[in-house]
Amino acid sequence: MLRVLVMVSGGGTNLQAIIDRVADGSIKNAELVGVISNNYGVKSLERADKAGIPNRVVSPKDFPDRESFNKALLEAVDSYSPDLVVLAGFLVVIPPAMIDKYENRIINIHPSLIPSFCGTGFYGLKVHEAALARGVKISGATVHFVDKGTDTGPIIIQKPVEVKEGDTPEVLQRRIMEEAEWKILPEAINMIASKKND
Ligand code: GRF
Repeated sequence: MLRVLVMVSGGGTNLQAIIDRVADGSIKNAELVGVISNNYGVKSLERADKAGIPNRVVSPKDFPDRESFNKALLEAVDSYSPDLVVLAGFLVVIPPAMIDKYENRIINIHPSLIPSFCGTGFYGLKVHEAALARGVKISGATVHFVDKGTDTGPIIIQKPVEVKEGDTPEVLQRRIMEEAEWKILPEAINMIASKKND
């Protein structure tokens, strides 16, 4: 069984999609061993509790500097002994030491077709604002491995989504979640889990 740790910052609809696909058997050979949030009081934590997944908050607000936060974050990750770390809307820069330690074992979901609308500053609604401002007719989502760059790691799965006349950033964001993110993130986990032999 692949031990999967999910890292979140907010609502956790991607986390919920993963929970649901493990529960209905679409993701095989994987167990959700933990959820880490960098924010207190977010819906993701309720979702984890409801699904009986151990969870904890590691907030930068509880540490005097970035270095001590990064150390605590890596310790928290290690405590779950994960085979795979899934960044599902996790808005904190991953410490380089964690990327070294978990090379090829961290994946991220990004709400555009990389290499469009990605990199520093492209997160949340900003991605969709930029896509609409450019007037693209197709956007989508990408699951990729995490390396030391921002959205630069090897691509695992991409799924296109139509941009429609009159879309607002919020409407486009929701369509990309429903039609792409909630599908390809569980699919990528299932692909990786299927390659694990025990
Ligand atoms: C998603 O759009 C994800 O692609 C982005 O942040 C959002 C997280 O949403 N990076 P949720 O917390 O999974 O609902």
